[in-house]
Amino acid sequence: MAKIKTKYVCQNCGYETAGYLGKCPECSSWGSFIEEIDSSSKKEAIQEVSEILPPMKLSEIEMNSEIRISTNISEFDRVLGGGIVQGSLVLIAGDPGIGKSTILLQTSGELCAQNKTVLYVSAEESASQVKLRAERLGVKSDNLYIYPQTNYELIKKNIESLKPDLVIVDSIQAIYTTQIQSSAGSVSQIRECCNLLMQLAKSENISVIVIGHVTKEGNIAGPKVLEHMVDTVIQFEGDKYKTYRILRSIKNRFGNTSEVGIFEMGAKGLSEVINPSEIFLKEYNQIQTPGSTIIVTSEGTRPLLVEIQALVGTTPYPAPRRVANGVDTGRVLQILAVLEKRIGLNLSKQDVYVNVIGGIDVNEPAADLGIALAIVTCVRDVVFDLQTAIVGELGLSGEIRAVNHIEKRINEAQKLGFKRIIIPEANDVQEKFEGIEIVKAKRIMEAITGSIKH
Ligand code: TYD
Ligand code: MG
Repeated sequence: MAKIKTKYVCQNCGYETAGYLGKCPECSSWGSFIEEIDSSSKKEAIQEVSEILPPMKLSEIEMNSEIRISTNISEFDRVLGGGIVQGSLVLIAGDPGIGKSTILLQTSGELCAQNKTVLYVSAEESASQVKLRAERLGVKSDNLYIYPQTNYELIKKNIESLKPDLVIVDSIQAIYTTQIQSSAGSVSQIRECCNLLMQLAKSENISVIVIGHVTKEGNIAGPKVLEHMVDTVIQFEGDKYKTYRILRSIKNRFGNTSEVGIFEMGAKGLSEVINPSEIFLKEYNQIQTPGSTIIVTSEGTRPLLVEIQALVGTTPYPAPRRVANGVDTGRVLQILAVLEKRIGLNLSKQDVYVNVIGGIDVNEPAADLGIALAIVTCVRDVVFDLQTAIVGELGLSGEIRAVNHIEKRINEAQKLGFKRIIIPEANDVQEKFEGIEIVKAKRIMEAITGSIKH
């Protein structure tokens, strides 16, 4: 009998080795190697694809415009770049319990209302569990097929015979193919199933959406390997304990990346949030305390007003604490260093906490100035002018640097009734804005004197 060949695969990044390793040389995670049976089926699959597609001259390639199916949920369509592209594979990733199954069941309902056929492969939940959720969401249609199945070969057979417009696989971690022998959920299985689904989507010209759970470390489905295989990666974010959720496109072969869609989870599933800035500012006008500022952040091409809070207090510890929620801690440390050096703020004996209200992450440098002013107003115990919004990147010498999409940001602040906005002097504003005063600041000190209410 031939000896079964095995290999060890890192369950975090997919790195393969012949022998066991304690630490992965690729992604540095510890104890992530699992023994899996080596299979050579992949080579055949590659050969098959290359036979169908011979090399072609660029000039000879005919362009057929991509066909998109609208989900009828405008926030979701926006993130997808205008609808689901026919024959594409979309990965929706997010923490368990965030609402992935919910949004896809709602999407299925919307598509079925347009007379499209949807096959919902439920690999985690039974048909009656899905039915229960559908009832709650008010989804009912005869074009929606629920298929509780984990075996890829059976799923494929049903897709080929049903020929639906959209297939949803909930989730990729729960399905397996008999072509390889590792257990469901292992890197090899996930990678192989995703690969097979990709081929099926292309050959049958059917759109496929797969759900992937995120691991504790925040990687999609353990292996990052999925990300570069699929056409579109959409991340579902948000605080499980709060009601709003953000869909963010992080890779899209057919559209803009870093577009976001904002939803609210309610008793009847997810509903779109048409004016997101309003939610993030809901409580702002009611609480007027030192240490709060409003910034206009840009999520993709979309401006969003969010509140940043800072709390500074004398530390009881030998080394002061710096805690940042929703913004990068490294960025906060840099801002603190600039404030100490350039305006002489002494924070060496002070704990500093920075928090973004609403559970969203703000990861762009344009938030720097807002963070800096939240800290300064807290230290000086003054209230930041309620009618003023602020944007700008803070350089190491205390200079304020230009930010992108400035006109969209001003427009959003104006729309929400702000009377002033502090922007970098380096930004050139062509458009004329009425009802909002644009204050330009070159250095951190100018921004401080321009914004604090006396
Ligand atoms: P679910 O879609 O099952 O999450 P995932 O598939 O990402 O694991 O949603 C789970 C949560 O959403 C669950 O805690 C209950 C909540 N929920 C509502 O609040 N309202 C609803 O209408 C539905 C269907 C779920
Ligand atoms: Mg689910």
